[in-house]
Amino acid sequence: MNIKRLGILTGGGDCPGLNPVIRAVTRRAIQAGISVVGIRNGWKGLITAEIIPLDLQSVSGILPKGGTILGTSRTNPYKHPEDLARVKENLVKLQLDVLIAIGGEDTLGVATKLSKEGVNIIGVPKTIDNDLSATDFTFGFDTAVNIAMEAIDRLHTTAESHHRIMVAEVMGRHAGWIATYAGIAGGADVILIPEEPIDIDAVCDIIKKRHSRGKDFSIVVVAEGATFKEGSNISTEEKLDEFGHVRLGGIGQILSGLIEQRTGFETRVTVLGHIQRGGSPTAFDRVLGTRFGVKAIELVLEGRFGQMVSLQGNKIAAVPIEQGTGTLKTVDPQLYQLAKTFFG
Ligand code: F6P
Repeated sequence: MNIKRLGILTGGGDCPGLNPVIRAVTRRAIQAGISVVGIRNGWKGLITAEIIPLDLQSVSGILPKGGTILGTSRTNPYKHPEDLARVKENLVKLQLDVLIAIGGEDTLGVATKLSKEGVNIIGVPKTIDNDLSATDFTFGFDTAVNIAMEAIDRLHTTAESHHRIMVAEVMGRHAGWIATYAGIAGGADVILIPEEPIDIDAVCDIIKKRHSRGKDFSIVVVAEGATFKEGSNISTEEKLDEFGHVRLGGIGQILSGLIEQRTGFETRVTVLGHIQRGGSPTAFDRVLGTRFGVKAIELVLEGRFGQMVSLQGNKIAAVPIEQGTGTLKTVDPQLYQLAKTFFG
């Protein structure tokens, strides 16, 4: 197949490293004689046919920029049949021979379905949560971990001065990768993740024991998706997004209240929220995004549609898109066990 023009979109939550992918895709495609258009705001832009041409000029200087120059949305074209029809219509109208979809479980879930319907798609996995299967890491995760680690370091000094318990709520909807990595790196005294329900008695015991050996401050890191035993996700509002997800948040506040009540130690909470997703990507994420982008174009040139780029060890490989989204990659129990060595 002679590929003349491709479209690229970014969907779901933004993530440091998206712009390096957009730059790499554009530069490598232009080298191969393929013209590139950016689709605005994820799948939404394919429903409304909102595009911007991408050339060497427009992707110049974006490598260190956080966010996505294309914009993003959580639009699900499979929610309304008329939207899906428009997506298919616009792919033809805009003369897009191939689509590069950069996203997480939701965006790549849509990409999988479209690919099965015959659309030429290459997937690029993205999420700060690092919970996509079939890739060892996603870009954005390293940046988020470093931001969370720095926050934990800062919480440490104030916790120590005031003899307080500091609870840091970090992102991580289904998996506690950010909490585990940032917690290990920041020397957290307790790390709580969605993979293991919270046992509040055990948490308070760890803190009390630590205090009884003379350490009168503690750091507790909790992933936003963590739940209490027999409990469900804590969210600030009931509204679901188009993929059926609630807006998480609030577990840190509840946890902090319970710890203070049960231990008698003054406890404060810090919710890092979107700070973890904003700003400039780390060197690791810039390099990974760049490698993913170049590989995506190699796959286009080889006609390997329906594939997703992936990091396997230190090599960039390709796997069927659905392998990335079929099952979520939760925290390695051995790693979490290792983290527990330093609890208390
Ligand atoms: O999936 C990435 C993520 O950052 C989750 O950790 C979090 O629950 C969600 O996105 C937040 O999404 P939004 O920015 O739409 O509130």
